[in-house]
Amino acid sequence: MKHLGTVILETERLILRRFTLDDAEDAFRNWTNSEKVTKFMTWPPHENIDVTRGYIQYCIDCYDNADNYNWVIKHRESGQVIGNISIVGITELTDCAKVGYCLSERFWGMGIMPEALNAVIRFLFDEVGVNRIEATHDVNNPKSGRVMEKCGMRYEGTMRQAGRNNHGICDKVIRAILKEDIE
Ligand SMILES: CC(C)(COP(=O)(O)OP(=O)(O)OC[C@H]1O[C@@H](n2cnc3c(N)ncnc32)[C@H](O)[C@@H]1OP(=O)(O)O)[C@@H](O)C(=O)NCCC(=O)NCCS
Repeated sequence: MKHLGTVILETERLILRRFTLDDAEDAFRNWTNSEKVTKFMTWPPHENIDVTRGYIQYCIDCYDNADNYNWVIKHRESGQVIGNISIVGITELTDCAKVGYCLSERFWGMGIMPEALNAVIRFLFDEVGVNRIEATHDVNNPKSGRVMEKCGMRYEGTMRQAGRNNHGICDKVIRAILKEDIE
């Protein structure tokens, strides 16, 4: 792999770019404070905007590492920052990246996350030299599985009691796409 870090990715409706501290208000209003969006997350909803500011500062600090991929999703039409997509794990040995994402509930059901994920998949395969992209979701969160499915990530199995999120321990579905799947 040849790491490039969090570079700007553009799609028809979205700009994927690095976080800035100015994103704190949109992020807090749109997803970090939401019980609904964080239902299946490993972190609790942010109680106040300072928690979001601290989180964003941490993200900004991590951009110094070339193998850090953490995009904020900017919606062109509304001008708002509406979600986040990131690489949550990299296995150098197998050229594998694990992806995670969340989106403001006001923008659910418009195919926004598949659009963002497709751009990230293309970038990782074509420019970073990743060979396998995987993701997991709670079995009770099939919406997330649909996003992966729409992007060509195949079902590989269900791992029993392998995850923990704001609901407690859960069974996790794993899906993945290989570079050769889209060649
Ligand atoms: C999962 C998530 C990213 C989906 O993003 P999205 O941009 O809405 O994705 P899509 O528009 O492709 O919709 C995916 C599925 O969500 C469901 N959905 C659509 N609109 C919805 C709505 N208004 N409310 C609830 N669910 C809806 C549908 O089942 C849809 O599948 P379909 O297109 O086959 O009908 C988003 O729901 C989210 O951020 N959820 C909370 C965070 C999360 O769960 N992240 C993943 C953790 S593994």
